[in-house]
Amino acid sequence: MKKNDPLLDVKDLRTWFHTRDGITRAVDGVSFSLYPGETVGIVGESGCGKSVLFYSLLGLLPSPPARIESGRAFFQGEDLLSVSPERLRTLRGRHMGMIFQDPMTALNPYMKIGSQLMEPLLVHGLSSKREARERAVEMMKAVGIQDSETRMQMYPHEFSGGMRQRVVIAMALVARPELLIADEPTTALDVTVQAQVLALLAELQKKMGMTVAFITHNLGIVSQLCKRVLVFYGGRILESAPVTALFTHPLHPYTAALMASLPRAHQTGRALATIPGQPPEKGAPPEGCPFAPRCRHAVDACHSRDCPLLPCGEERHTACWRVQSGELKEMMP
Ligand SMILES: Nc1ncnc2c1ncn2[C@@H]1O[C@H](COP(=O)(O)OP(=O)(O)O)[C@@H](O)[C@H]1O
Ligand SMILES: [Mg+2]
Repeated sequence: MKKNDPLLDVKDLRTWFHTRDGITRAVDGVSFSLYPGETVGIVGESGCGKSVLFYSLLGLLPSPPARIESGRAFFQGEDLLSVSPERLRTLRGRHMGMIFQDPMTALNPYMKIGSQLMEPLLVHGLSSKREARERAVEMMKAVGIQDSETRMQMYPHEFSGGMRQRVVIAMALVARPELLIADEPTTALDVTVQAQVLALLAELQKKMGMTVAFITHNLGIVSQLCKRVLVFYGGRILESAPVTALFTHPLHPYTAALMASLPRAHQTGRALATIPGQPPEKGAPPEGCPFAPRCRHAVDACHSRDCPLLPCGEERHTACWRVQSGELKEMMP
């Protein structure tokens, strides 16, 4: 791999669910790259396909009903969508770490914390038992768990919610993966603990230098943690931009609407703006821009043909015909 090659390169991924009620196009033609060492935010309202996207890459979706209809996903040159299940399991354990939203689903309630931390190393034959123990203790210290030797002998229920999420982070990172996928990792935590866990993730990223895909519906978190953002809607990416550019000058009407719905410290007391209409329930409609039904700028073309994600300014991409044609310029929130 060359220095500027992406660590992960996803091309035209489509993941649909085939159920008795019909087809849900959860992910519908998504392309993006993640580069070594960067922290990228994946944002969008709940149900827009963020989790399904990454579960597809990790081979964690139940099939049926999930089916990958198209796409390639090169991770360090290997296509995650066509490697064997065994290879994918190895990649998942050693090279890609995942933090789930609810720490309890990631932890085994009947297994000591220490054994759970050592497991990824032992299963993949990365180290001897003694080494694994040392690395587990070291990782517990790194995530700020004091008295780690004693804590190794404890069970998940003896830990608080915040401590459990620290353990889950330690588990995801103990094998030193190149890619960390954090799927709403602080949603289940209260605000103070949330801030501590975010600070911890930022610190670990700096220290270990891994690439982080940070999935969240919280734009505030993105502005603190991420350098670049992918804005998701209805199973598609509608905009990608460096974080500062996105916040100061959103291009896509959906991004602008999302920004406008953000509470601001200096505007307390003002009613929260909401985006009119409902997010699409079954992912993108077959034709047109997925946001068109809710977009106050939409014209006929938006309803009949979806706009691909096209370059629009420095390091920016947007999927909006009206922005591309230059008709919409100032999408200030
Ligand atoms: N196992 C499943 N069976 C059917 N539909 C699913 C399944 N899992 C997710 N979906 C659908 O896929 C879409 C995207 O979901 P998801 O990726 O979880 O959204 P989010 O952006 O909140 O992470 C939603 O419409 C959801 O209902
Ligand atoms: Mg999700």
